[in-house]
Amino acid sequence: MTSLGDAWRLASERIDRLDARLLVQQVATCTHADLLAHAARCLSVEQVARLDKLVRRRAAGEPLAYLLGSAPFHDREFLVSPAVLIPRPETELLAELAIECLRLLPAAKVLDLGTGSGVLAVTLKCLFPEATVSAVDVSQAALDVARSNARRHAAEIRFLQGDWYAPLGEECFDLIVANPPYVADADPHLGRDGLPFEPQVALTDGIRGGDGLNCIRAVVSGASRHLLPGGWLLVEHGYNQATAVRHLLREGDLSGLVTWHDLSHLERVSGGCLR
Ligand SMILES: C[S@@+](CC[C@H](N)C(=O)[O-])C[C@H]1O[C@@H](n2cnc3c(N)ncnc32)[C@H](O)[C@@H]1O
Repeated sequence: MTSLGDAWRLASERIDRLDARLLVQQVATCTHADLLAHAARCLSVEQVARLDKLVRRRAAGEPLAYLLGSAPFHDREFLVSPAVLIPRPETELLAELAIECLRLLPAAKVLDLGTGSGVLAVTLKCLFPEATVSAVDVSQAALDVARSNARRHAAEIRFLQGDWYAPLGEECFDLIVANPPYVADADPHLGRDGLPFEPQVALTDGIRGGDGLNCIRAVVSGASRHLLPGGWLLVEHGYNQATAVRHLLREGDLSGLVTWHDLSHLERVSGGCLR
């Protein structure tokens, strides 16, 4: 017989203690408080086997969010699966900037390009119910996850499958947000920190020897055709890509260019508006 307390202690010998606790809570469907107050409660044989499998996967580098099936973003919990990028804290900067725009225009037409799990689209629609939110992704599997998240948070969003602006015809928006794949194909980070478990289509444009900017080029070059006058494009990028992205924004006929820093003081989001 294995108690909750023993399960946590044994798992902590193989993986990070906090990860171990969250996996024990997941398998035993209990809270942190239960775990402390009822440490002697026994797990079933089936629960012990399930926990062992999860701990093994975590020890092999699989991200905790995929094992738990969810991840937090901007005060909400979102379903995630290996079909989608795990939402990153850096992307909360993009959400915050979009929120600032929508405070001025709460009934805006908003487009989220490369929606993945839908974190941006769902967060914005929940905070601004009068906004009309559309979200595009090339991956049908990602859109299935995004739809589940929209249902979970009762957010009415139009989801479209396709290549960036292709499914939108000539439609225009007040605000376009995008967190496209921007890691260069040769970047060694792609082989570390759980990234091999995430969908490569969400991380890199896959262009051999490229600069990782190909998706951002597609998003920026189409923006002026899909923004309403005065509309904004906000795009997340790599810490060393801000100068190149501002150049693309200028070439794409956008003005009022700005770059914002994330909590690590890295240039992380750039944007411009259509005059
Ligand atoms: C970095 S992830 C961002 C996911 C989510 N927006 C977030 O911030 O967590 C990039 C997303 O772009 C999508 N994507 C990649 N290529 C695309 C394309 N050609 N057209 C539309 N979406 C694309 C990927 O499937 C992935 O979901």
